[in-house]
Amino acid sequence: MSSVSRPTRMLVATDRQQDRLREAGIVLLTCDTNGRTMPSTRAGADWLWSLVARSGVVLRALAGCCEAWNDQERPTPTEGVPGLWFVPIPIEERRTRTAYGVACIPCTEILDSEYFSAMCQGARLDATWCRSQLEMLPPASSTDVDRLAVLVRGAWQDEQRRCSDEQVIEDVGRELGESYEEINLLYSITRNMTEVDCPERFLSVTCEELRQQLPYAWVVALVEGTGATSEVPDHVAVAGDSSREADDLVRFGTRLVRSAAPDRPIVFGPDDPGGFGDGCATIAQPILRDGQVIGMLMAACKEADDQDASSVDMKLMSAAASHIEIFLENAGLYEDLNAMFLGTLESLTASIDAKDRYTCGHSRRVAMLSRQLAEACGCDANLVNRVHIAGLVHDVGKIGVPERVLVKPGRLDEHEVDWIRRHPEMGHRILRDIPNFEDVLEGVLHHHERWDGSGYPCSLSGNDIPRVARMIAIADAFDAMMSSRTYRRGMARSQVLAELEACSGTQFDPELVPVFLSLDFSSYGDLVEEHTAAEEDGDASRGRAA
Ligand SMILES: [Fe+2]
Repeated sequence: MSSVSRPTRMLVATDRQQDRLREAGIVLLTCDTNGRTMPSTRAGADWLWSLVARSGVVLRALAGCCEAWNDQERPTPTEGVPGLWFVPIPIEERRTRTAYGVACIPCTEILDSEYFSAMCQGARLDATWCRSQLEMLPPASSTDVDRLAVLVRGAWQDEQRRCSDEQVIEDVGRELGESYEEINLLYSITRNMTEVDCPERFLSVTCEELRQQLPYAWVVALVEGTGATSEVPDHVAVAGDSSREADDLVRFGTRLVRSAAPDRPIVFGPDDPGGFGDGCATIAQPILRDGQVIGMLMAACKEADDQDASSVDMKLMSAAASHIEIFLENAGLYEDLNAMFLGTLESLTASIDAKDRYTCGHSRRVAMLSRQLAEACGCDANLVNRVHIAGLVHDVGKIGVPERVLVKPGRLDEHEVDWIRRHPEMGHRILRDIPNFEDVLEGVLHHHERWDGSGYPCSLSGNDIPRVARMIAIADAFDAMMSSRTYRRGMARSQVLAELEACSGTQFDPELVPVFLSLDFSSYGDLVEEHTAAEEDGDASRGRAA
């Protein structure tokens, strides 16, 4: 992560430098190129500093010296007032001299200077007391100045190098902190991409992660399904505190989706009109699909001293939006793949059902009823989906049963019954190599088990029978009784439901039966009509062909 750009730090005399030179009887000032001194935290409390920096005589001399130094490539020590030497250290920014560090060295000659009284007066110091203080300083004379200048300049360079190193350490530390934040966020989001399987949940956890990392009161994500055509987004996630403001934010974001350019985020500064909330920054990062803006990831109401959106804020939002785009694309691909898989299974089971006109559409109807039962039992979306698939393929093993047995009118002999009873195991064998199909396989293998243990193929009883299989067993029996056969007409729904109730606790799970009885069968009725119409069309076609 790149660092936030910072202005170059002005090099000035540090407190540490001033303290060390002061111990040697030297005052260190910083002044601009016109000789105007700059404020110092060490100023005011020290008599020597006052004698140098508050005396008009000295300050005028300093200004004159600066004028001369400005013309010198390497300015040299200058005696500003008799007995007071200035050692200039040029300060440059981008190769331009902008200031001077000035070491002011009072020498013993100052005590004989005709300006001494004026200096004390300017600094509001008693001349006699001041003289006694100067006499106690480490002795220096004008002949020592050149040697002292070498030491002062060396000390200055060391201190500036130390400050520069500190600045580098501070910058590296800050960048490390920012990098950690980004890596931590990306790690969390990436982990969520593998653990979360629906867009709503992924958007929600991503907003929560951002809310924890960024100093904003709100993080909101909204995604529209088909490219900004609806008034209400398909997916919305909010991390923040107040639902009222969240609704406002969603409306605000929905407007932005319609106007945003796909190639850059929208950033509202604290004083920009059009932002969300007054006096605080808002970042809106577009979420794209195929280059089109389909949503917006927003961080609003910054909670920090610096109210502007920082480059770190922008980086994290951009990274999170990219992950959302990848997740949504993957979710779309997974949905397509799942639909294709289901379509293939439907075709396969339809071809088996079609062997017998009386079982036409049976698998789809059992799948739908099983799904409804699973939903009514409060199963999660994933399990509901698995139950649906298991219902769809529950009789796939009939593909291995001779057609003459499947379509035989009337009663089957013992040998034929054996064939039929083998279909759950054959179905299991056909499907067992499909990855992650374990729960579906259980439904296929055990859908003819009975609650009392008298079923097949394993004679399981009660809760030993997998729940998926117990659900399919009820749906299967319901549709079988509702459907007509060559040897009987389909039963009335009320009769079928009464039969299921009567067999509750013997053939069927006594907890599932009441749930099944309470289902809404209108969708089932629609599906029966659809299959009946398709079968009649088939009969008509066969009639014309004959
Ligand atoms: Fe079956």
